[in-house]
Amino acid sequence: SKPRVWVSRPFFPDIVDRLRPFFEVDAESEEQRFSSADLATRLADADAAIVGLAERIDVAAIRQAKRLRFVANLGVGYNNLDIEALSAAGIGASNTPDVLNETVADYAWALMLAAARRVGEAERWLRAGQWHGSRFEGWLGTDVHGKTIGILGMGRIGQAIARRAAGFRARVIYHNRSRLPAAVEQACAATYVDKAQLLTEADHLILVVPYTPESHHAIGEAELQAMKRSATLVNVARGGVVDDVALARALARGTIAAAALDVFEGEPALHPSLLALDNIVLSPHIASASRDTRRDMAALAVDNVLAAFGHGPHAGRPPTILNPGVLADAS
Ligand code: GLV
Ligand code: GLV
Repeated sequence: SKPRVWVSRPFFPDIVDRLRPFFEVDAESEEQRFSSADLATRLADADAAIVGLAERIDVAAIRQAKRLRFVANLGVGYNNLDIEALSAAGIGASNTPDVLNETVADYAWALMLAAARRVGEAERWLRAGQWHGSRFEGWLGTDVHGKTIGILGMGRIGQAIARRAAGFRARVIYHNRSRLPAAVEQACAATYVDKAQLLTEADHLILVVPYTPESHHAIGEAELQAMKRSATLVNVARGGVVDDVALARALARGTIAAAALDVFEGEPALHPSLLALDNIVLSPHIASASRDTRRDMAALAVDNVLAAFGHGPHAGRPPTILNPGVLADAS
């Protein structure tokens, strides 16, 4: 009989259909949040799973998953996967790098521009029927062109964000665990600085670091204090990279001018103090959500599962496997 694949979130039926010749497909028909018990039940008779970022695949989740051989994550960040536990159990895992770089970079710019130029705040005011003539000194925002853009986390998404700065004649500084090769720095016209300098010099600071124990609350009260009072902060990385409570306090006090968040600690719940602020743009984790890119991400997840079971153009070599050692051990 065919192996079973569990698909935790509904997506593009034509892409799911590519699994059907080779798998019994157990695809959820609605978005839902799985309790750890639900998750264990779903995984118990699955040979493969395609999961979203809300599904935590950890030791508890895979304890009963005796048949599970592969987990494909619908996202580039994979802090929801315990890679060590998966590897120890001989289960391969993949993510969706690269296909979303340019789309996430577009969105980071959208958030930066919206926060710096107060787009959301002005629209709310207009929709509330408050526009009865404007003040010449009303709605003053901060320019983006010609300013210094700081990027914390200079992977491929960070580099795509940096490349966009050329048209704005903006300077780009970055901080990363490891400095990029000179040729890469040149290609995206970005200058390496230490974290302290990044905080003090950036007019607009964009966070693109993966969420790890080291990046937990990388931006908290002290870091916000170090930033310019006119600065904008953008988080398209993960909730938890920013201390949301400290940020809300800083925005209320004018420690920095504005922020834009696509990700939150404990999402989809938001800290209520964020909702009370006007100088913040809030969006529901949609940085990669363009029609083309979400299809590409789904297709890449499916390609990984097919390949892990010896099918498709990458048979035997899942194209974006995170723990390739598992394959070596199996052969
Ligand atoms: C989205 O947050 C992703 O990691 O792809
Ligand atoms: C984003 O998560 C990156 O590592 O570039």
